[in-house]
Amino acid sequence: MPAAPLNSTLPIVAAPMAGGPSTVALAHAVASAGAFPFLAGGYKSPQALSAEIEQLRASGTGFGVNLFVPSTAPVDATAFAAYARELEEEGVAHGLQLDPSPVIDDDHWREKIALLVRHPVPVVSLTFGLPDAADITALKNAGSSVLASVTTPQEARLAADAGVDGLMVQGLAAGGHSATFDPTQLPEPVDTDVLVRRVLQTVDLPVVAAGGVDGPEAVRRTLQAGAQAVAVGTLLLRTDEAGTSATHKQALGDPAFAETVLTRAFTGRPARALRNGFTDRHPQGPNAYPAVHHLTRALRQAAGKAGDADRLHLWAGSGWRNAPTGPAADVIRRLAEGAGLT
Ligand SMILES: Cc1cc2nc3c(=O)[nH]c(=O)nc-3n(C[C@H](O)[C@H](O)[C@H](O)COP(=O)(O)O)c2cc1C
Repeated sequence: MPAAPLNSTLPIVAAPMAGGPSTVALAHAVASAGAFPFLAGGYKSPQALSAEIEQLRASGTGFGVNLFVPSTAPVDATAFAAYARELEEEGVAHGLQLDPSPVIDDDHWREKIALLVRHPVPVVSLTFGLPDAADITALKNAGSSVLASVTTPQEARLAADAGVDGLMVQGLAAGGHSATFDPTQLPEPVDTDVLVRRVLQTVDLPVVAAGGVDGPEAVRRTLQAGAQAVAVGTLLLRTDEAGTSATHKQALGDPAFAETVLTRAFTGRPARALRNGFTDRHPQGPNAYPAVHHLTRALRQAAGKAGDADRLHLWAGSGWRNAPTGPAADVIRRLAEGAGLT
Protein backbone atom coordinates (compact mmCIF):
# COMPACT_ATOMS: atom_id res chain seq x y z
CA MET A 1 0.00 0.00 0.00
CA PRO A 2 1.40 3.45 -0.84
CA ALA A 3 2.16 5.76 2.09
CA ALA A 4 -0.38 8.34 3.18
CA PRO A 5 0.66 11.79 1.94
CA LEU A 6 0.94 13.24 5.44
CA ASN A 7 4.26 14.37 6.79
CA SER A 8 3.41 14.69 10.49
CA THR A 9 5.39 12.96 13.20
CA LEU A 10 2.30 11.28 14.62
CA PRO A 11 -0.30 9.27 12.67
CA ILE A 12 -2.98 11.60 14.06
CA VAL A 13 -4.95 14.08 12.01
CA ALA A 14 -7.09 17.04 13.13
CA ALA A 15 -10.19 16.47 11.01
CA PRO A 16 -11.61 19.41 9.06
CA MET A 17 -14.57 21.01 10.85
CA ALA A 18 -16.36 23.77 8.97
CA GLY A 19 -18.69 26.31 10.53
CA GLY A 20 -16.18 27.65 13.06
CA PRO A 21 -14.31 24.90 14.93
CA SER A 22 -11.31 24.55 12.57
CA THR A 23 -9.13 27.63 13.00
CA VAL A 24 -5.56 28.50 12.11
CA ALA A 25 -4.82 28.52 15.85
CA LEU A 26 -6.16 24.98 16.19
CA ALA A 27 -4.06 23.86 13.22
CA HIS A 28 -0.93 25.40 14.78
CA ALA A 29 -1.67 23.83 18.14
CA VAL A 30 -2.16 20.27 16.90
CA ALA A 31 0.82 20.55 14.54
CA SER A 32 3.01 21.66 17.46
CA ALA A 33 2.13 18.37 19.16
CA GLY A 34 2.99 16.34 16.03
CA ALA A 35 -0.44 15.88 14.39
CA PHE A 36 -1.44 16.75 10.82
CA PRO A 37 -3.91 19.65 10.65
CA PHE A 38 -6.72 20.40 8.22
CA LEU A 39 -8.31 23.72 7.42
CA ALA A 40 -12.02 23.61 6.65
CA GLY A 41 -12.79 25.30 3.34
CA GLY A 42 -16.52 24.63 3.48
CA TYR A 43 -18.92 27.60 3.89
CA LYS A 44 -15.98 30.03 3.66
CA SER A 45 -15.46 32.66 0.98
CA PRO A 46 -12.45 31.96 -1.26
CA GLN A 47 -10.86 35.14 0.16
CA ALA A 48 -11.26 33.98 3.77
CA LEU A 49 -9.92 30.54 2.90
CA SER A 50 -6.97 32.07 1.07
CA ALA A 51 -6.11 34.21 4.10
CA GLU A 52 -6.14 31.16 6.40
CA ILE A 53 -3.96 29.20 3.98
CA GLU A 54 -1.38 31.97 3.83
CA GLN A 55 -1.26 32.28 7.62
CA LEU A 56 -0.71 28.57 8.07
CA ARG A 57 1.73 28.30 5.19
CA ALA A 58 3.90 30.96 6.83
CA SER A 59 4.39 28.64 9.81
CA GLY A 60 6.09 26.06 7.59
CA THR A 61 3.90 23.20 8.78
CA GLY A 62 2.37 20.65 6.43
CA PHE A 63 -1.42 20.84 6.26
CA GLY A 64 -4.50 19.98 4.28
CA VAL A 65 -7.54 21.89 3.04
CA ASN A 66 -10.98 20.34 2.87
CA LEU A 67 -13.67 21.28 0.35
CA PHE A 68 -17.34 20.35 -0.05
CA VAL A 69 -18.08 18.81 -3.44
CA PRO A 70 -21.24 20.52 -4.77
CA SER A 71 -24.43 18.49 -4.68
CA THR A 72 -25.97 17.56 -8.01
CA ALA A 73 -29.17 16.12 -6.50
CA PRO A 74 -32.37 18.03 -7.40
CA VAL A 75 -34.31 19.55 -4.50
CA ASP A 76 -37.90 18.35 -4.02
CA ALA A 77 -39.59 21.78 -4.06
CA THR A 78 -42.82 20.54 -2.43
CA ALA A 79 -41.06 18.82 0.46
CA PHE A 80 -38.80 21.84 0.91
CA ALA A 81 -41.74 24.28 0.99
CA ALA A 82 -43.56 22.11 3.55
CA TYR A 83 -40.45 22.03 5.73
CA ALA A 84 -40.03 25.80 5.46
CA ARG A 85 -43.59 26.14 6.80
CA GLU A 86 -42.86 23.62 9.55
CA LEU A 87 -39.91 25.74 10.72
CA GLU A 88 -41.76 29.07 10.77
CA GLU A 89 -42.39 28.86 14.52
CA GLU A 90 -38.76 28.11 15.27
CA GLY A 91 -37.88 31.40 13.57
CA VAL A 92 -40.50 33.28 15.55
CA ALA A 93 -38.77 32.22 18.77
CA HIS A 94 -35.86 34.45 17.67
CA GLY A 95 -37.92 37.15 15.96
CA LEU A 96 -36.93 35.84 12.55
CA GLN A 97 -38.86 35.18 9.39
CA LEU A 98 -36.99 32.37 7.64
CA ASP A 99 -36.58 32.87 3.89
CA PRO A 100 -38.58 30.04 2.26
CA SER A 101 -37.02 30.31 -1.22
CA PRO A 102 -34.68 27.36 -1.80
CA VAL A 103 -31.07 28.52 -2.21
CA ILE A 104 -28.81 26.10 -4.00
CA ASP A 105 -25.19 27.07 -4.40
CA ASP A 106 -21.88 25.34 -5.05
CA ASP A 107 -20.04 26.87 -2.07
CA HIS A 108 -17.74 28.72 -4.56
CA TRP A 109 -16.39 25.42 -5.86
CA ARG A 110 -14.78 26.76 -9.04
CA GLU A 111 -13.11 29.70 -7.27
CA LYS A 112 -11.77 27.43 -4.53
CA ILE A 113 -10.36 24.95 -7.03
CA ALA A 114 -8.77 27.85 -8.94
CA LEU A 115 -7.30 29.16 -5.67
CA LEU A 116 -5.80 25.78 -4.78
CA VAL A 117 -4.42 25.29 -8.28
CA ARG A 118 -2.80 28.75 -8.19
CA HIS A 119 -1.52 28.34 -4.64
CA PRO A 120 -1.23 24.58 -4.04
CA VAL A 121 -1.30 23.11 -0.55
CA PRO A 122 0.22 19.75 0.40
CA VAL A 123 -3.10 17.89 0.76
CA VAL A 124 -6.65 18.57 -0.45
CA SER A 125 -9.50 16.44 0.91
CA LEU A 126 -12.93 16.34 -0.71
CA THR A 127 -16.18 15.43 0.93
CA PHE A 128 -19.84 14.79 -0.10
CA GLY A 129 -18.94 12.85 -3.25
CA LEU A 130 -16.54 13.07 -6.15
CA PRO A 131 -16.08 16.03 -8.48
CA ASP A 132 -15.27 15.87 -12.19
CA ALA A 133 -12.10 13.87 -12.79
CA ALA A 134 -10.63 17.02 -14.37
CA ASP A 135 -10.73 18.81 -10.98
CA ILE A 136 -8.89 15.94 -9.27
CA THR A 137 -6.30 15.97 -12.06
CA ALA A 138 -5.89 19.74 -11.81
CA LEU A 139 -5.22 19.54 -8.06
CA LYS A 140 -2.77 16.68 -8.52
CA ASN A 141 -0.97 18.45 -11.37
CA ALA A 142 -0.61 21.47 -9.11
CA GLY A 143 1.28 19.23 -6.68
CA SER A 144 -1.37 18.41 -4.06
CA SER A 145 -2.19 14.94 -2.82
CA VAL A 146 -5.93 14.46 -3.13
CA LEU A 147 -7.95 12.51 -0.56
CA ALA A 148 -11.63 11.61 -0.93
CA SER A 149 -13.91 11.07 2.06
CA VAL A 150 -15.79 7.79 1.73
CA THR A 151 -18.24 5.88 3.90
CA THR A 152 -18.46 2.49 2.17
CA PRO A 153 -16.18 0.12 0.22
CA GLN A 154 -18.23 0.95 -2.91
CA GLU A 155 -17.48 4.66 -2.54
CA ALA A 156 -13.84 3.76 -1.94
CA ARG A 157 -13.77 1.91 -5.27
CA LEU A 158 -15.33 4.88 -7.11
CA ALA A 159 -12.79 7.23 -5.51
CA ALA A 160 -9.88 4.96 -6.45
CA ASP A 161 -11.17 4.80 -10.04
CA ALA A 162 -11.36 8.60 -10.09
CA GLY A 163 -7.63 8.73 -9.36
CA VAL A 164 -7.38 10.05 -5.80
CA ASP A 165 -4.18 9.49 -3.81
CA GLY A 166 -5.82 8.33 -0.60
CA LEU A 167 -9.03 8.08 1.38
CA MET A 168 -10.58 9.57 4.48
CA VAL A 169 -12.70 6.63 5.59
CA GLN A 170 -15.50 8.00 7.75
CA GLY A 171 -17.50 5.73 10.04
CA LEU A 172 -21.10 6.46 10.99
CA ALA A 173 -20.11 7.43 14.56
CA ALA A 174 -18.47 10.62 13.23
CA GLY A 175 -19.68 14.01 14.35
CA GLY A 176 -21.04 16.46 11.81
CA HIS A 177 -22.14 15.64 8.28
CA SER A 178 -21.84 12.16 6.92
CA ALA A 179 -19.58 12.19 3.88
CA THR A 180 -21.91 9.74 2.12
CA PHE A 181 -22.10 10.15 -1.66
CA ASP A 182 -25.84 9.42 -1.45
CA PRO A 183 -27.51 11.41 1.33
CA THR A 184 -30.83 9.61 0.78
CA GLN A 185 -29.30 6.41 2.18
CA LEU A 186 -27.36 5.90 5.35
CA PRO A 187 -24.32 3.67 5.28
CA GLU A 188 -24.39 0.45 7.30
CA PRO A 189 -23.71 1.17 10.99
CA VAL A 190 -20.39 -0.64 11.29
CA ASP A 191 -17.56 0.45 13.58
CA THR A 192 -14.87 2.56 11.95
CA ASP A 193 -12.16 -0.11 12.35
CA VAL A 194 -14.40 -2.70 10.67
CA LEU A 195 -15.12 -0.26 7.84
CA VAL A 196 -11.39 0.37 7.41
CA ARG A 197 -10.74 -3.36 7.04
CA ARG A 198 -13.52 -3.68 4.46
CA VAL A 199 -12.23 -0.71 2.48
CA LEU A 200 -8.69 -2.10 2.51
CA GLN A 201 -9.98 -5.38 1.14
CA THR A 202 -11.45 -3.39 -1.75
CA VAL A 203 -8.81 -0.83 -2.72
CA ASP A 204 -5.07 -0.39 -2.44
CA LEU A 205 -4.91 3.20 -1.20
CA PRO A 206 -3.67 4.80 2.01
CA VAL A 207 -6.44 5.37 4.52
CA VAL A 208 -6.99 8.03 7.15
CA ALA A 209 -9.80 6.78 9.39
CA ALA A 210 -12.32 9.01 11.19
CA GLY A 211 -15.41 8.56 13.29
CA GLY A 212 -15.94 7.92 16.97
CA VAL A 213 -12.26 8.04 17.95
CA ASP A 214 -12.80 8.84 21.61
CA GLY A 215 -9.45 8.00 23.20
CA PRO A 216 -6.15 6.13 22.94
CA GLU A 217 -7.75 2.68 22.73
CA ALA A 218 -9.74 3.71 19.66
CA VAL A 219 -6.56 5.14 18.10
CA ARG A 220 -4.78 1.83 18.65
CA ARG A 221 -7.71 -0.22 17.32
CA THR A 222 -8.05 1.91 14.20
CA LEU A 223 -4.35 1.81 13.38
CA GLN A 224 -4.36 -1.95 13.90
CA ALA A 225 -7.13 -2.20 11.31
CA GLY A 226 -4.67 -0.83 8.77
CA ALA A 227 -5.33 2.91 8.76
CA GLN A 228 -2.15 4.92 8.28
CA ALA A 229 -3.53 7.71 10.41
CA VAL A 230 -6.51 8.41 12.62
CA ALA A 231 -8.52 11.63 12.42
CA VAL A 232 -10.22 13.24 15.39
CA GLY A 233 -12.89 15.89 15.21
CA THR A 234 -15.20 15.85 18.21
CA LEU A 235 -12.31 15.37 20.67
CA LEU A 236 -11.02 18.81 19.64
CA LEU A 237 -14.33 20.70 19.69
CA ARG A 238 -14.06 22.06 23.24
CA THR A 239 -10.37 22.92 23.16
CA ASP A 240 -9.08 26.45 23.70
CA GLU A 241 -8.08 26.94 20.06
CA ALA A 242 -11.24 25.53 18.45
CA GLY A 243 -13.61 28.18 17.12
CA THR A 244 -16.66 26.22 18.25
CA SER A 245 -19.39 28.57 19.50
CA ALA A 246 -19.67 29.00 23.26
CA THR A 247 -23.20 27.55 23.17
CA HIS A 248 -21.95 24.43 21.37
CA LYS A 249 -18.93 24.03 23.67
CA GLN A 250 -21.12 24.32 26.73
CA ALA A 251 -23.66 21.80 25.43
CA LEU A 252 -20.90 19.27 24.80
CA GLY A 253 -20.04 19.43 28.49
CA ASP A 254 -23.62 19.49 29.73
CA PRO A 255 -24.71 16.16 31.25
CA ALA A 256 -28.33 16.95 30.29
CA PHE A 257 -27.54 15.87 26.73
CA ALA A 258 -27.85 12.12 26.67
CA GLU A 259 -27.20 10.90 23.13
CA THR A 260 -26.33 11.76 19.56
CA VAL A 261 -28.65 11.29 16.58
CA LEU A 262 -28.26 11.36 12.83
CA THR A 263 -30.44 14.17 11.59
CA ARG A 264 -31.30 16.05 8.40
CA ALA A 265 -33.23 18.67 10.35
CA PHE A 266 -30.60 21.42 10.23
CA THR A 267 -29.11 21.16 6.74
CA GLY A 268 -30.99 18.57 4.65
CA ARG A 269 -28.02 16.18 4.75
CA PRO A 270 -27.52 13.53 7.43
CA ALA A 271 -25.28 14.74 10.23
CA ARG A 272 -24.57 13.49 13.73
CA ALA A 273 -25.52 15.92 16.49
CA LEU A 274 -26.46 15.94 20.15
CA ARG A 275 -30.14 15.17 20.38
CA ASN A 276 -31.99 18.38 21.31
CA GLY A 277 -35.45 19.90 21.03
CA PHE A 278 -34.95 20.78 17.37
CA THR A 279 -33.94 17.25 16.33
CA ASP A 280 -36.92 15.88 18.29
CA ARG A 281 -39.42 18.35 16.85
CA HIS A 282 -38.25 17.82 13.26
CA PRO A 283 -37.42 14.15 12.86
CA GLN A 284 -38.12 14.20 9.11
CA GLY A 285 -35.99 16.96 7.64
CA PRO A 286 -36.17 16.69 3.85
CA ASN A 287 -33.30 15.49 1.77
CA ALA A 288 -32.41 18.91 0.40
CA TYR A 289 -28.84 20.05 0.98
CA PRO A 290 -27.76 22.86 0.79
CA ALA A 291 -31.25 24.40 0.59
CA VAL A 292 -32.12 23.46 4.20
CA HIS A 293 -28.69 24.65 5.36
CA HIS A 294 -29.51 28.10 3.94
CA LEU A 295 -33.10 27.99 5.27
CA THR A 296 -31.98 27.44 8.87
CA ARG A 297 -28.76 29.46 8.79
CA ALA A 298 -30.07 32.71 10.30
CA LEU A 299 -31.93 30.75 12.95
CA ARG A 300 -28.84 28.78 13.91
CA GLN A 301 -26.72 31.92 14.05
CA ALA A 302 -29.28 33.59 16.31
CA ALA A 303 -29.55 30.49 18.50
CA GLY A 304 -25.77 30.30 18.87
CA LYS A 305 -25.53 33.96 19.89
CA ALA A 306 -28.43 33.71 22.32
CA GLY A 307 -27.16 30.56 24.06
CA ASP A 308 -30.17 28.61 22.75
CA ALA A 309 -28.76 25.07 22.58
CA ASP A 310 -32.26 23.77 21.86
CA ARG A 311 -32.22 25.22 18.32
CA LEU A 312 -28.52 24.89 17.50
CA HIS A 313 -26.91 22.18 15.38
CA LEU A 314 -24.76 20.64 18.09
CA TRP A 315 -22.56 18.49 15.87
CA ALA A 316 -21.00 15.71 17.92
CA GLY A 317 -19.58 12.26 17.32
CA SER A 318 -20.52 9.29 19.46
CA GLY A 319 -17.49 9.89 21.70
CA TRP A 320 -18.50 13.42 22.69
CA ARG A 321 -18.45 12.73 26.41
CA ASN A 322 -14.68 12.33 26.24
CA ALA A 323 -14.09 15.72 24.58
CA PRO A 324 -11.90 17.69 26.98
CA THR A 325 -11.39 21.40 27.54
CA GLY A 326 -7.88 22.90 27.60
CA PRO A 327 -5.12 23.18 25.01
CA ALA A 328 -5.57 21.13 21.83
CA ALA A 329 -1.91 20.08 21.91
CA ASP A 330 -2.61 18.28 25.20
CA VAL A 331 -5.41 16.28 23.57
CA ILE A 332 -3.03 15.12 20.85
CA ARG A 333 -0.23 14.34 23.33
CA ARG A 334 -2.53 12.33 25.59
CA LEU A 335 -3.87 10.34 22.62
CA ALA A 336 -0.36 9.62 21.36
CA GLU A 337 1.02 8.65 24.76
CA GLY A 338 -1.94 6.49 25.65
CA ALA A 339 -1.82 4.70 22.31
CA GLY A 340 1.90 4.03 22.71
CA LEU A 341 2.88 6.20 19.77
CA THR A 342 5.55 8.21 21.60
C1 LIG B 1 -18.36 20.38 14.01
C2 LIG B 1 -17.94 19.46 12.89
C3 LIG B 1 -17.74 20.00 11.63
C4 LIG B 1 -17.32 19.16 10.58
N1 LIG B 1 -17.08 19.71 9.34
C5 LIG B 1 -16.53 18.94 8.37
C6 LIG B 1 -16.09 19.51 7.15
O1 LIG B 1 -16.14 20.72 6.95
N2 LIG B 1 -15.60 18.68 6.20
C7 LIG B 1 -15.47 17.33 6.41
O2 LIG B 1 -15.01 16.62 5.51
N3 LIG B 1 -15.87 16.77 7.56
C8 LIG B 1 -16.36 17.54 8.55
N4 LIG B 1 -16.69 16.98 9.74
C9 LIG B 1 -16.40 15.56 9.97
C10 LIG B 1 -14.96 15.42 10.47
O3 LIG B 1 -14.06 15.82 9.47
C11 LIG B 1 -14.65 13.97 10.89
O4 LIG B 1 -15.04 13.07 9.89
C12 LIG B 1 -15.36 13.62 12.19
O5 LIG B 1 -15.29 14.67 13.10
C13 LIG B 1 -14.70 12.39 12.79
O6 LIG B 1 -15.48 11.83 13.79
P1 LIG B 1 -15.44 12.30 15.34
O7 LIG B 1 -16.17 13.59 15.34
O8 LIG B 1 -16.16 11.21 16.04
O9 LIG B 1 -14.00 12.46 15.72
C14 LIG B 1 -17.12 17.78 10.81
C15 LIG B 1 -17.32 17.27 12.08
C16 LIG B 1 -17.70 18.09 13.14
C17 LIG B 1 -17.86 17.50 14.51
